[in-house]
Amino acid sequence: MNPNKRPEDMVRITTRELADKFIAGQIAEVRKQVGSRKVLLALSGGVDSSVVAALLVKAIGRQLICVHVNHGLMRKGESEQVVEIFRNQLDANLVYIDASDRFLDKLAGVADPEAKRKVIGGEFIRVFEEEARKLTDVDFLAQGTIYPDIIESKGVKAHHNVGGLPDDLHFELVEPVKLLFKDEVRVVGAALGLPDGMVNRQPFPGPGLGVRCTGAITRDRLAALRESDAILREEFDRAGLTGKVWQFFTVVPDYRSTGVRDGKRLFDWPVVIRAVNTVDAMTATVPEIDWAVLKKITDRILSEVPGVCRVLYDLSPKGPATIEWE
Ligand code: XMP
Repeated sequence: MNPNKRPEDMVRITTRELADKFIAGQIAEVRKQVGSRKVLLALSGGVDSSVVAALLVKAIGRQLICVHVNHGLMRKGESEQVVEIFRNQLDANLVYIDASDRFLDKLAGVADPEAKRKVIGGEFIRVFEEEARKLTDVDFLAQGTIYPDIIESKGVKAHHNVGGLPDDLHFELVEPVKLLFKDEVRVVGAALGLPDGMVNRQPFPGPGLGVRCTGAITRDRLAALRESDAILREEFDRAGLTGKVWQFFTVVPDYRSTGVRDGKRLFDWPVVIRAVNTVDAMTATVPEIDWAVLKKITDRILSEVPGVCRVLYDLSPKGPATIEWE
């Protein structure tokens, strides 16, 4: 039997009861595979790696070493949430690495979108590898591989964007959710007690805010992006749109336009609001957001985010426009 093929008669995990059964089965399975040895996991804070982390904490406790690399391109509050949930609430063995400066220094002056992805993916692997080499007695690498990763990209998690870890690290893989579809992973995550905001988190690209701060990333424009994105999320939440709109975020392009504030002319960035609905991310439509909500977001961004003088709503469906700007 091919271990990477979902059996045709496998029941879809749609209820708490089925999730509990799956979790119990995987706990037994992981304990059998790992014994008393140690497992390493790159915990991004995304749904898949978070569910794997919570599952493995249940199965093997502090034998699991989670490494969270903050690449400086996370959304506001995201790394803090990972630390709060996994270290403080679940008592997981979590190594937190703030590598923001290292990533942003490497990205300085890099304007091409694919080159940026390569820098971020490559640096991520390097930071993680350095950490892995510090730990001497780890035999396993856990991954949040899910079934679409196996079908679509030969088992490589999309967010890595570049290869994997060097072979000389000799890890055996632990992939407890590799036969599950995304909706099933969410049901399992909820059954494991992860908060709703984490389990139903909207998709977030591996390169993070890096592909929304278009062109060469600068720290000030990245700060404007992070703050405007936080305002957008807060106001969508307040308006009851979280969970109803599939993906939403802001983009801060690398050009300026003229503005005027307190009688003085200035030359500041625009913030673009991007919101889409889709089933499979291959095509997408733009939802009609209530004018009052858009106006409130605009007012808040213009008064709270330094360096911004204009707010736009992107009305373009996919295609021809992709969901992300880069
Ligand atoms: P596009 O922009 O291609 O996006 O319409 C489709 C979906 O994929 C996400 N996306 C990425 N995810 N690494 C990722 O892990 C990436 O480099 C990347 N680029 C786009 C995007 O957020 C959307 O959900």
